Amino acid sequence: MDGVTVIDHPLVQHKLTIMRKKETSTAGFRRLLREISTLLCYEVTRDLEMTHETIETPMTKMEAPILEGKKLVFASILRAGNGLLEGMLDLVPSARVSHVGVYRDHETLEAIEYFFKAPEDIAERLVIIVDPMLATGNSAIAAIDRLKERGVTNMRFLCLLAAPEGIKKFRESHPDVPVYTASIDSHLNEKGYIVPGLGDAGDRMYGTK
Ligand code: URA
Repeated sequence: MDGVTVIDHPLVQHKLTIMRKKETSTAGFRRLLREISTLLCYEVTRDLEMTHETIETPMTKMEAPILEGKKLVFASILRAGNGLLEGMLDLVPSARVSHVGVYRDHETLEAIEYFFKAPEDIAERLVIIVDPMLATGNSAIAAIDRLKERGVTNMRFLCLLAAPEGIKKFRESHPDVPVYTASIDSHLNEKGYIVPGLGDAGDRMYGTK
């Protein structure tokens, strides 16, 4: 699918299967989410631009590769996005973090924004938006609308699971933002949950209902 990358690394797929199981505990789910997010982060950053700097090893001088440009921003869509943050920050500890609070109205499934915090110069940075579930697409679309209002032009969206309906709506709204996911599942049910999915990601990671 155009603009959508499915991360089919065997470790990602194996961990995802355990996360999907209804008997996986809250602690197990959280640990796996942290592990899997590190692997997803590795994949979503694999083509970052590089430059070189002159360094001195104990042996000699050399031109060594380093990341080009300003530090990345990870933008977490609250609250479930935070579950992906920790593992990503393990891998890129110098990244800046933005939080975007949008919740789904359970009647209309529309995204309602209640919180937004971002680095001052976010428009000059690559922003990786994270949310485990791309379901209706409404929250992701609303978060990206908000980031674009702040002048952000360079974005990627990273999730664990995506529904075909969500991907379609997302790509229609933001064709310039590539999507990375570990799986494209079958469909959304009438309540807006991904099937087969893994249930409510926030509830599963925090032990709420
Ligand atoms: N959000 C979730 O946590 N799970 C879904 O299946 C859909 C949206």
